Amino acid sequence: MTFKTLDDASLAGQRALVRVDFNVPMADGQVTDDTRLRAALPTIDKIRKAGGKVVLLAHFDRPKGKRVPSMSLKPVVGPLEKLLGAPVVFADDCIGEDAAKVVAGLKDGDVALLENLRFHAGEEANDADFAKALAANGDLYVNDAFSAAHRAHASTEGLAHVLPAYAGESMRRELDALDAALGNPQRPVLGVVGGSKVSTKLELIRNLILKLDRLAIGGGMANTFLFAQGYDVAASYCEKDLADTAKSILDFAAQNDCELLLPIDIVVAEKIEPGGAARVRDLGQLDEHERILDAGPKTVARLTSAMDASKTLIWNGPLGVFETPPFDAGTTAAAKHAAALAKAGKLVAVAGGGDTVAALHHAGVADDFTFVSTAGGAFLEWMEGKTLPGVAALER
Ligand code: 3PG
Repeated sequence: MTFKTLDDASLAGQRALVRVDFNVPMADGQVTDDTRLRAALPTIDKIRKAGGKVVLLAHFDRPKGKRVPSMSLKPVVGPLEKLLGAPVVFADDCIGEDAAKVVAGLKDGDVALLENLRFHAGEEANDADFAKALAANGDLYVNDAFSAAHRAHASTEGLAHVLPAYAGESMRRELDALDAALGNPQRPVLGVVGGSKVSTKLELIRNLILKLDRLAIGGGMANTFLFAQGYDVAASYCEKDLADTAKSILDFAAQNDCELLLPIDIVVAEKIEPGGAARVRDLGQLDEHERILDAGPKTVARLTSAMDASKTLIWNGPLGVFETPPFDAGTTAAAKHAAALAKAGKLVAVAGGGDTVAALHHAGVADDFTFVSTAGGAFLEWMEGKTLPGVAALER
């Protein structure tokens, strides 16, 4: 797909309405993780340097069309000013007089942040009048919020039809990286899908089977596949009612020439507790109260060899209960191996999804991956092969 970028825009003296994703983790009114603020910096800097005025649009949480004071974007101003090294003017509303006054006061290179878009019902309803009211404060529209692009809201979709629309720097990087992983990847391509539930990732697994050469399944969801193949999973988490679905996925993979890599050994314990006694077992060899909590060493070794034999890796979901060591061993070993290959230029390694990013940080290798997406729902929908309305609207 092709879309206009900031390089195609003439920015000097223009008011750029920039949709960012500042839906950041917050506790007691303080931003606790500024990753998404940092992601917006390249776009903001580029517009400022070109002499444009930056008007930031964002949502926070789900106020459902009402003004909820605890969901104000105001706490973002301080951390953003620090990162930018420049003042950020805040407007108490994203449309109407408040917004107009703040935007009218901006000089070239200045930055404003408008209050939570979702305080207005028109945002989520993708209301045309609301989009027009937002557009009144801009000459052009820049979408830099890939992580909100699965929403067809006024600020993520509607505005692209009202103003000249461009992809921001972070959006562009994200789309390029995702294209390199699933759109036009160097083959062979290996996928790793983990996490606990098969039920939430059925569409994703089916889409990946159509696109990948190999797909490793780990985490709690692998238990459902093992159960479907007749192995005892004892007290493990397992969606037993999905055994037939798991079998049909195995058939689907075989029909589509995608090699599924299921665990060949497992790490088990009776309880999930830090430092708990982890035992390596062959498949099906569990005591009655034992649970599968991580991939075994043979499984990890086979996965890392599959990485060695691949040119591209796309990863979503941990292989075990990585939050509670020692059950992080499988995920950490596999993540380190992928990161080393990526760093050596031998593997394009792309990862995304909340748990996955946390697992890569836990392993200390997030920076060595080729690309780590900060998107949650949008990344999953993209992996499912769905069209993201916010991205489609930018297409030219
Ligand atoms: C996210 O945090 O994934 C995005 O900001 C989207 O938020 P939402 O799920 O509330 O639409």
